[in-house]
Amino acid sequence: MINTSLNNNTSNITKNLSERDQELFYREIPSLLKKKDASLIAHYYTPALVQLLAERTGGIVADSLEMARFGKKVKNKTLIVAGVYFMGESAKLLSPAKKIYMPDINATCSLDLSCNYDDFKSFISKHPDRKVVVYANTSAKVRSLADWVVTSRNAIEIVNHLATQGQKILWAPDKYLGNYIKNKTNADMLIWQGECIVHSEFKIKKLLDLKSIYPDAAILVHPESPMEIIDQADVVGSTSILIDAVTSLPNDTFIIATDKGIFYKMQQLAPSKTLIPAPTAEDGANCRACASCPWMALNTLESLYSCLKNDTGEIYVATEIIEQAAVPMQRMVDFNENIQLKKEVSYAQ
Ligand code: 13P
Ligand code: SF4
Repeated sequence: MINTSLNNNTSNITKNLSERDQELFYREIPSLLKKKDASLIAHYYTPALVQLLAERTGGIVADSLEMARFGKKVKNKTLIVAGVYFMGESAKLLSPAKKIYMPDINATCSLDLSCNYDDFKSFISKHPDRKVVVYANTSAKVRSLADWVVTSRNAIEIVNHLATQGQKILWAPDKYLGNYIKNKTNADMLIWQGECIVHSEFKIKKLLDLKSIYPDAAILVHPESPMEIIDQADVVGSTSILIDAVTSLPNDTFIIATDKGIFYKMQQLAPSKTLIPAPTAEDGANCRACASCPWMALNTLESLYSCLKNDTGEIYVATEIIEQAAVPMQRMVDFNENIQLKKEVSYAQ
């Protein structure tokens, strides 16, 4: 008999599982993870069941920065990265000696797709006076061209740091995040014109309508969203910052402009709060709050099981690319640890 005793939040997610999914969730996947000495590292946008499995098996659910850091820290020799391809590559760049697998190797990202290596290389060559700062949502090859890699959790601090040294910046690929950082820091930034197909869909008119219905709601926005959406935000930040906001702000209601997968963790940490997805379409559309990344959705129980069972979806990155791209990646991780350290010291004083 399979032990299905779980808490409330969890049982809501598991209550309608088919026999097959129960078998995978409670028995097959946990036992394969153990057998293969593998840790499951999931992003907040993956299906709730996958996030839950990562938590129950000693892995982690995190934002893109913490996923990469955890992968390096954890003792396991094998990492199963449930997210999108650049996250698997980040794990490989920071932990080249580990085997990294993804449930579905086709899980790409529109930002990654928007920044082709050859085009980007030629763009950089025209601006040799600029520091190249690249968002982590890009291929390892593109990151190998960068001076710095950043995520939405540390982008403002890193760009600020460069701007105070008088550096001019070439930014890629997300235009909305790039413009948001530029406004926040006043840095001299030349911006590549990529966008995320999920976050670019939020609609300002419908957001204002929703806010008028819930005037006390706090609006939380991921900075890959268009500027007019960011302008309405009470909090702008990475997935982990938005989750913190739900638990730390006094509001009872939140309107959330990011992928709906994040609701699982928000609801788990703040079960009494009301979470409303920000609108992605005007009246008449079939789905009016549809922020859901199609590539994150490829991380299913079935694909996770198949990758563990058949050793499919391994991430390979050429050695010379690892050597080059690991430098700006590690620079970001070290920078972040320094900020953390400074915060801890100033709290202690
Ligand atoms: P975070 O770095 O905030 O987890 O975001 C990654 C991402 O792909 C957002 O769309
Ligand atoms: Fe990429 Fe957008 Fe999906 Fe994030 S939500 S992984 S930026 S396509």
